[in-house]
Amino acid sequence: MWDLLLTDANLATMRGGRYAAIERGAIGVAGGRIAWVGAAAALPGPAAGLARACESLDGRWVTPGLVDCHTHLVYAGNRAREFELRLSGATYEEIARAGGGILSTVRATRDASDTRLAQQAARRLRRLMDEGVTTVEIKSGYGLDTATEMRMLRVARLLGDMTGAEVRTTFLGAHALPPEYAGRADDYIDLVCGEMLPAVAAAGLADAVDAFCERIAFSPRQTARVFDRASALGLPVKLHADQLSDTGGAALAARYGALSAEHLEHTAEAGVAAMAEAGTVAVLLPGAYYFLRETRLPPVATIRAHGVPMAVATDCNPGSSPLTSMLLALNMACTLFRLTPEEALAGATAHAARALGLAATHGTLEPGKVADLAAWDIDTPAELAYAMGANPLYAAWKGGVRRA
Ligand code: NIG
Ligand code: FE
Repeated sequence: MWDLLLTDANLATMRGGRYAAIERGAIGVAGGRIAWVGAAAALPGPAAGLARACESLDGRWVTPGLVDCHTHLVYAGNRAREFELRLSGATYEEIARAGGGILSTVRATRDASDTRLAQQAARRLRRLMDEGVTTVEIKSGYGLDTATEMRMLRVARLLGDMTGAEVRTTFLGAHALPPEYAGRADDYIDLVCGEMLPAVAAAGLADAVDAFCERIAFSPRQTARVFDRASALGLPVKLHADQLSDTGGAALAARYGALSAEHLEHTAEAGVAAMAEAGTVAVLLPGAYYFLRETRLPPVATIRAHGVPMAVATDCNPGSSPLTSMLLALNMACTLFRLTPEEALAGATAHAARALGLAATHGTLEPGKVADLAAWDIDTPAELAYAMGANPLYAAWKGGVRRA
């Protein structure tokens, strides 16, 4: 006897990163997992006898719950003033070099109470969940001292309890050089490796470790030091790679068997080939490309040709992508980066789960997987990427429990 049976649903199962659609389908849920998926006609008996609860979805589409695999959504303050400066000609890099940018959010975050941080972040997370997100990755990186980095990760974990979303945390201590270490980047990396990473690992606060490898942040050599330490502590790595310039970040990430390399606007073919070899997912962040008015596109055709799985995420953060809509990210992935709507949806489900190391349990509608589901008022799955500003979410389930 299942706990729940959803019937009269069209299913975009996203198996193998394709729609792999099943029309007139049904899903059985037991113990928070998907127990059965298939055509309703193939159900092993009359619906009423199979589950304690039965719900007809009247022909709506069901997809896996969306996975936003790259966000910085715990922060205080905002950077609207910087937005104005950029619109009158200043660049993201210039603002960062002048002590604004990430560092202005670091000042606001250090000053904010946990309660305030959690309240502001929960509001952003609920916006994502309103559009069918059931799992979200959240990075630290606006503390840049041990206490505040750990505080950010604790708040991120707390958000899971507050909202019912599944939260995966990433330690991003190597996001920017804090003012107290100005001119001493190697000393700061000593702190990240010698104090922050061991403390974060001992407290079990991070599921992965990230860094910003860029000329305004950390060099490949400094990034490698962080990755060596993370690997020694048994933590998987991922990387903000080649966003503003080609520093060889994608290849560096691949060398460490990274779960993912992200942004990738300036990645050359050798980096993509290395990712293919290592099984590293390409995480595309069209919101940041759009908001920074970038013109250099990530090498999507090359990524596709090498068979590297592409994920799509919001990069929700105050500076480069104040975006709390996965559906808009899907639309932008298509219009700006030329993904197909099918690739975009795979990038928000199957491949996003892979980017978080959750491929075995999340991201597709298959028996045995966690019953994270989204039901939509749409006629075709491509509508999820097509409609701008629409929210066709009808219902969402996290681990088989109805959340929206
Ligand atoms: O993914 N590139 C570095 N980190 C963020 C931006 C963070 C910020 O500007 O606050 C990003 O774009
Ligand atoms: Fe980011």
